[in-house]
Amino acid sequence: MRQFRAATGAALIVMLSACGGGGDGGGSFPPPSGGGGGGGLPPPSSAPALKTVLAAKYGVVDFPVGAAIEPNSTTNAPDRDILLKHYSSITAENAMKPDTVWPNKAGTSGATAQPADTPNFAPGDTLAAFAFNNNMKLRGHTLLWHQTAPTWFFAGDRVGDPVSYRINVQQRLRDYIFTVVQHFPNVYAWDVVNEVASDTPFDANPFRTNSPWYEAYGVGGGDPREYVRDAFLFATQARASIGKNSSNMKLMLNDYNPELAGKRDNVLRIVQYVMDAGTGADINGVGHQFHLQINADVAQVTAAFQAVENLSSTLENHVTELDVSIYADPGDCFSARTIPPCAADYGANPPATVMSQQATLYRALYNAFDRPSVTSVTSWGIADNHTWLNTFPVNRTNRPLLFDTAGNPKSAFWAVADSSCVIP
Ligand code: GLA
Repeated sequence: MRQFRAATGAALIVMLSACGGGGDGGGSFPPPSGGGGGGGLPPPSSAPALKTVLAAKYGVVDFPVGAAIEPNSTTNAPDRDILLKHYSSITAENAMKPDTVWPNKAGTSGATAQPADTPNFAPGDTLAAFAFNNNMKLRGHTLLWHQTAPTWFFAGDRVGDPVSYRINVQQRLRDYIFTVVQHFPNVYAWDVVNEVASDTPFDANPFRTNSPWYEAYGVGGGDPREYVRDAFLFATQARASIGKNSSNMKLMLNDYNPELAGKRDNVLRIVQYVMDAGTGADINGVGHQFHLQINADVAQVTAAFQAVENLSSTLENHVTELDVSIYADPGDCFSARTIPPCAADYGANPPATVMSQQATLYRALYNAFDRPSVTSVTSWGIADNHTWLNTFPVNRTNRPLLFDTAGNPKSAFWAVADSSCVIP
């Protein structure tokens, strides 16, 4: 049973001990006084390993519990220690994106851009080695994303010779995917394409049109959608070339906002499009980014899983980029990117009520992840010391993860890792 310091009375000891100790009643945090961890939480050293708790909860040995990281997290404190204790999977936050793996040759750009003479695998290799050496799984993120596509993919004369242009772009995509998939043979799941769906709810055309890939494939009257089909086809072929298949290397379509019905509909129609392509392109599931807000509706998270399950029983659900912003921003915040309409900054010490709300939501989310089709859960970051949400959608303090800025388990961690803890 967990030990607590500075408990002031017998009743309090009983109540708190239940948090993690399996007592009769529910435990509580933060306790009125004392407790070993910051903010009155149990001592950090008493935290159970998240990967062990979740594998038991979901009834899956070695269930991938992941974090997205940069290479320096494999050596820096507190990241490395948290990773080794709590996580069984890593995703490259940026190291395996196309503009890192194969940038333009220095000094070239635009329509005359050329690829660098050799790919830049070093950052990704650091992650792959860390995963391999520590018996962790490696998720691949991502083979194609409109925001990180170096311009050499699209170089050439699209006006004078559109037919050759399109064939060249297609060949570059094939070569790139083969090179990268073959280089990282131990990846257990690839986000083959990232964010290819339209943001317009229930769009007549479910594809994102403001993508250089969509535009390049549309040259000369070509079907602009086919880059998605081709990406899955080439990934399927590349996977086979290294002796892997759908049982050990999943090919996923990754996108944000699947918790919104209209976006979800667009995403699923693209999945169906790939399934119907008839070219041999395989697709094994949907990666749900789930960059959520404090007011997220867990029923809609479940609805996203169910929609994929209903499309085909062969498809899996991965949670790929989970974080929970402590703000509830309105939709126009994400276009304006100013305060207001984005919510005002809480500053360095967000209200305790907000952190409790976050803990409650996190518990409900990890309960919602408890379904057979959900086969991987990854957080977009390790601890609140490093999160993209401090600069997106505006510069503002955010605290979206399970560990605090010092790397200690937050109330959200305890809410997930210990069902006996009562959230105040
Ligand atoms: C998207 C991408 C991620 C990451 C985040 C923000 O969700 O898929 O790779 O870039 O944006 O950092």
